Amino acid sequence: MSMQNKMLDSVPSSQALFGVFLFATSFLWTFPEFVLATSHHGSVTRHYKFDIRLANVTRLCHTKSIVTVNGKFPGPRVVAREGDRILIKVVNHVPNNITLHWHGVRQVRSGWSDGPSYITQCPIKRGQSYVYNFSIVGQRGTLFWHAHFSWLRATVYGPLILLPRHNESYPFLKPYKELPILFGEWWNADPEAVIAQALQTGGGPNVSDAYTFNGLPGPLYNCSKDTYKLKVKPGKTYLLRLINAALNDELFFSIANHTLIIVEADASYVKPFESHTILLGPGQTTNVLLKTKPQYPNATFFMLARPYFTGMGTFDNSTVAGILEYTKNVANTNSNVNSSTTSKYFPLLPSINDTTFVANFSNKFVSLNSVKYPANVPKTIDKNFFFTVGLGTSPCPKNQTCQGPNNSSKFAGSMNNESFALPSIALLQQHFFGQANNGIYTTDFPVLPLRPFNYTGTPPNNTRVSNGTKTVVIPYNTRVQVVLQDTSILGAESHPLHLHGFNFFVIGQGFGNFDPSNDPNKFNLVDPVERNTVGVPAGGWVAIRFLADNPGVWLMHCHFDVHLSWGLRMAWIVEDGKFPNQKLPPPPKDLPKC
Ligand code: C2O
Repeated sequence: MSMQNKMLDSVPSSQALFGVFLFATSFLWTFPEFVLATSHHGSVTRHYKFDIRLANVTRLCHTKSIVTVNGKFPGPRVVAREGDRILIKVVNHVPNNITLHWHGVRQVRSGWSDGPSYITQCPIKRGQSYVYNFSIVGQRGTLFWHAHFSWLRATVYGPLILLPRHNESYPFLKPYKELPILFGEWWNADPEAVIAQALQTGGGPNVSDAYTFNGLPGPLYNCSKDTYKLKVKPGKTYLLRLINAALNDELFFSIANHTLIIVEADASYVKPFESHTILLGPGQTTNVLLKTKPQYPNATFFMLARPYFTGMGTFDNSTVAGILEYTKNVANTNSNVNSSTTSKYFPLLPSINDTTFVANFSNKFVSLNSVKYPANVPKTIDKNFFFTVGLGTSPCPKNQTCQGPNNSSKFAGSMNNESFALPSIALLQQHFFGQANNGIYTTDFPVLPLRPFNYTGTPPNNTRVSNGTKTVVIPYNTRVQVVLQDTSILGAESHPLHLHGFNFFVIGQGFGNFDPSNDPNKFNLVDPVERNTVGVPAGGWVAIRFLADNPGVWLMHCHFDVHLSWGLRMAWIVEDGKFPNQKLPPPPKDLPKC
C-alpha cells in the first residue's frame, strides 16, 4: 500500500524531470548498461540498456560466437535498492528470438515484465525492442537475470543485486567488500544445437564441457587459461553473492580452510549459520560472509565447485577451481614472496550423490523472522495441491527412431503426469484479453495425481505422460499449499523447482512418499525459509506455502533447463482482486505479441 502511494506521489516530480531525463538518457544510452537515477522520496528509477549481440569468446581453446548482453560474458550487473524502479531497454540484434527474466523478482502487478517466453510475452525478435519495467518491493539480497527462451541462458545471464534502502543496513556485520560469484557452464558446442538435437531424437542432451566462476573455468581443465581470483585482504569480512546460473547442475561449493556464514537466500534474510560447504541449485542464490585470516598467510586457497547429481543419465562430472588470493598490506611489503613456494590448499567436497549432506544442509535454512523481517507464512490454507515431479516418456513418432528410454520413446518431464506444451500465444496475453480460449490453454491442471502410485517405490510399467497446456486458476489472495513429490520414474532425482511471481515458504521436507496424516504435524509454520527455488529431494517431497497476492500468469518449473525443455513445468493463473490495486494493469505498448 505504501508503495502504491509513493508511486502516485512521485508522478509530478518525475514529469518535471522528464525533459532532463530524455536528454540524459539519449546521451547516456549510447554507453553500455548505463544507470541514471531520478530520485524521489529516496526511491529512484534506474535505467539500463541491454543490447543483445553476438560476441566471440574463447574458453578451453575453443572460440565461439555466443549470444550476450552488451558483448559481456557473463552479462552486466543490475543494481538497485529496495523500493527502486528498474527500466531495462532490451534491443535484439541477433537472429535468435529472446526474452529476459528477472529471476526471483516478485513482479508485483508487473507480470508483463516477468519474461518467460510464451507465458508472459512472446519473444523479442531480431530488430525489436522491449522495455522491462518493474519495482523492487520488499526484497533485498542477491538474485540474477537470465534469458528465458530455449537454452539461451547458457550465455545470457548476470547478477541482480538488491541493496537495502539508503537509511537501512544489513542485519549482520557490515562487510568490507561485496563480490558476486556466478556459477555457470561452458559449452564448446552451441547449446541451442544441443537441445534442438535432443528434442528431435528424444534422448538425453550432451553435457557441458566445464563449469565456471564468473565465466572462467580455472586450472583443472585442459587448455584452460582463465581462472577466477578472489583477491582479499587479511582480517576483513567479505560478502560473497553466490549465484548458480548453470543450466543443468546443482553445485557444491567450498573454499579451502575457510568457513562461510550463510546470511541470505533468494533475496530473503535467513538466520545466519556456518558451513564449510554449500549446495546451490540452478536458480538459487545466496549471500555468505567470508572472514579472512587475521594475518597474511603464505598459502594459496582454492575454491571449488562440482555437481551434486542423483539422476541416471550422463552429466558434466568436472570441477571448476578459483583462487582465494591474499594481497599483502602495502605497509609491510616483502616482495620476494614466490608463489611456487607457497602451499596450496584444496577444499574437500561431499561425494557426487551425497543426498544426506544436501538434506542436512537445506534443513539449516530458516527465516530471520525478526520484528523487522517477519516470516508471514500462511497459518491456514485455502487450497491444497499435491504435484508429482519427475520424468516420463512420450511415444516415438511413426517412421522415426528415438534415443530416449529403451530407444523406443522420448524423454519427457511432467508434473502430475502432465507434460506442459508451450502455447503459440503468450498465456498472459490470452488471459488478460479474455477472448474465448481458442484452445490456447485449459484450466484443468490436476490438483493431485489422477492415478496414484507408490511414487518412490518400484516405478509403474506405463511411464507415458499426457501432453497439454493446462493451468490452475486461483482467486486473488488464495493461501496455497503445494506438496511437491519426486517420483522414481526413470530414476529418483533432485529437482530445483522454481516459482515465478512469488516467494514461498518451505514448511517441510522428507524422504519417501509424503504422508498426509503424519507429516503435516512436523511442518514449520514459525520461521520457515522463504525462497523462489527449492530442491525437491531425490526420492522425497517438499511442502511449500504462498499467498497468491499477485495477479497474473506464473510459471512453475524445474530449473534444470533439460527438464524444463522436456515439459516439467505448469502455470498458475492468479485472478485479479476486487480493488484497483489488486488488478493487473494492461500491457505496455511495446509488448512483443505473437
Ligand atoms: Cu530462472 Cu523460469 O526461471
